[in-house]
Amino acid sequence: MSKAKFTVTAALPYANGPLHLGHVAGVYLPADIFVRFLRMNGHDVAFICGSDEHGAAITLRAKKEGITPSEIVDKYDGIIRKAFQDFNISFDIFHRTSSEIHHKTSQDFFLKLYENDKFTEETSEQYYDEEFQQFLADRYITGECPKCQNPNAYGDQCEKCGASHNAIDLINPKSSITGLSPELKKTTHWYLKLDSHQPFLEDWILKSHKLDWKPNVYGQCKSWLDDGLKPRAVTRDLDWGVPVPLESANGKVLYVWFDAPIGYISSTIEWAKNNNKNWEKYWKDPETELIHFIGKDNIVFHCIIFPAMLKAEGS
Ligand code: 2FM
Ligand code: ZN
Repeated sequence: MSKAKFTVTAALPYANGPLHLGHVAGVYLPADIFVRFLRMNGHDVAFICGSDEHGAAITLRAKKEGITPSEIVDKYDGIIRKAFQDFNISFDIFHRTSSEIHHKTSQDFFLKLYENDKFTEETSEQYYDEEFQQFLADRYITGECPKCQNPNAYGDQCEKCGASHNAIDLINPKSSITGLSPELKKTTHWYLKLDSHQPFLEDWILKSHKLDWKPNVYGQCKSWLDDGLKPRAVTRDLDWGVPVPLESANGKVLYVWFDAPIGYISSTIEWAKNNNKNWEKYWKDPETELIHFIGKDNIVFHCIIFPAMLKAEGS
């Protein structure tokens, strides 16, 4: 190993509950050991983490606890932060996606993609819970699986037969928040043209880095690529998150999985500012290695979607 720079990230934990011991064992402790090893060998490392504070999971938790989303994230960010300190995990920064710098960084990122024609704008019908007054994320809709008739399939996937589908395909859909049958309502969103990055990702994942991946990571990515990548919505109808920085997008926010990985960048910017460093050296220098420690549910976001976002951003 040369004495190169390393940017090491550990998956930003959702600030909707305390830290899970399994995540410490599977993500944070291995990342910490690796980073300590790099530092002992004289490498320049930025070890980045923070709270993931947006998304429907937070608004639901707030509803359950009878407090606001902002109170929820303050509460759990504090608990998680303390747990990491007690475990002596040596992050260079543990930041927050509710911070101003993060909102600005992710809005600028979105606008750069928008201006460079990396999105399509599409209007479609999506399920809306009249009582909860919110469009429902696929995970919050259950119904009968159109393939195997399992009555408890989720809007995005049936855990019994493994089929993935659209919420609109479920038979007798129900909102898992109120138990009511949701209504279909038209809504407009911005979709990242993932399909246009298929050649780059095939080359980068399946050819030039073939031997760098763990077998399960390679397998999951290959299966996505074999199916053919499709445009993916990066905005949501929600009143909690980073507002979409377009006049025509009033009341819409960036999808949490769009803004969260940008959290790695905004946290690096904040750390660099406080430590007299140049953040761009940790993200844009071809000599710097970027290493993500993640959980198994996070594979496609880190190996397909975030790389496509970075490629689309271009710098
Ligand atoms: O699965 C999770 O807990 C997510 N909050 C991980 C986000 S990782 C990154 F993109 F920020
Ligand atoms: Zn099924």
